[in-house]
Amino acid sequence: MAQGLYCDLTAPGPLGMFGQILKEADMANKTVIITGGARGIGLACAQRFFKDGWRVVIADRDEHAASEALDALGSGAGKAIAVHCDVSDPLSVHNLVAETLSEYGRIDTLINNAGIAITGGSLELDVKDFDRVLAVNLRGAFLLSKAVAKHMVETLDNDDDRSGLSMPNLSIINMSSINARMALPDYLAYCVAKGGLNQLTNAMAIELAPHGIRVNSIGPGSVKTDMLAGVAGDALAMVHSRTPLGRVAQPDEIAGVAAFLAGDDASYITGECIYVDGGRSALNYIMKSGDADA
Ligand SMILES: NC(=O)c1ccc[n+]([C@@H]2O[C@H](COP(=O)([O-])OP(=O)(O)OC[C@H]3O[C@@H](n4cnc5c(N)ncnc54)[C@H](O)[C@@H]3O)[C@@H](O)[C@H]2O)c1
Repeated sequence: MAQGLYCDLTAPGPLGMFGQILKEADMANKTVIITGGARGIGLACAQRFFKDGWRVVIADRDEHAASEALDALGSGAGKAIAVHCDVSDPLSVHNLVAETLSEYGRIDTLINNAGIAITGGSLELDVKDFDRVLAVNLRGAFLLSKAVAKHMVETLDNDDDRSGLSMPNLSIINMSSINARMALPDYLAYCVAKGGLNQLTNAMAIELAPHGIRVNSIGPGSVKTDMLAGVAGDALAMVHSRTPLGRVAQPDEIAGVAAFLAGDDASYITGECIYVDGGRSALNYIMKSGDADA
């Protein structure tokens, strides 16, 4: 079907119903790359987008977990592939984009979600560990964003048929953290990387706005994933004491925000970080400690 016809039919008016049908058909072609998609928040994003009918690319450095994640997608209207990628390696990033385009032909949304945390403050953190955290959490997001944004700009430049009537909704979402703005001294490199990721978001949002490409980030508080597995007992009680909602988030509560940011309802949001933190950013006092297992 000609893209130009699609644009006209989705305009409000007597053809609105056909427009809706065509919009749903178009949704079925939308492609999302999710780095670190094999586990935790990334897997929850993969499950949500798959359920919503997207073509999902689960990109992870852990090949075995990525292929297991395909089995964990559940029922949904989408399609999915798993691709091995270490986001800190430029060649691996190049191959991921090439494989996605060869399989699905387009990229509508990129979710830079892969992340690691290595403990240590300025007095004891090894420079190699500092570099490693920045290489994955910040440089990796830059490498992939650069490659995907180039492709998105080319797509828009070649999209003469649409003539600006119905621009494709293209966006990049960076999985930041509450620690982009609230510091943990013993996670120095992690805090620095996430702070940088927010500024990568802002700078790219302004740069790509003239093309209509949106760039946003999500700042989760504490989320029940492997990354949080070591936080138990007193440490978990401390998390609860800093969280007005009194519990950690489930990964699908973050995935829902990613789905919103990628969708048409977020068409005027760019250069934003949405903190999904149970109220932690707003807190000005310590909460009474609740059930440490919640
Ligand atoms: N869990 C939390 O409480 C929390 C809070 C705030 C922000 N975040 C952020 O959310 C993102 C996901 O966290 P999570 O808790 O789901 O983590 P997780 O450890 O459960 O999963 C991370 C995934 O990323 C993959 N990965 C790691 N390094 C990679 C690399 N170099 N290339 C490709 N894949 C790589 C891992 O194999 C894994 O599948 C991270 O960026 C993290 O910083 C998490």
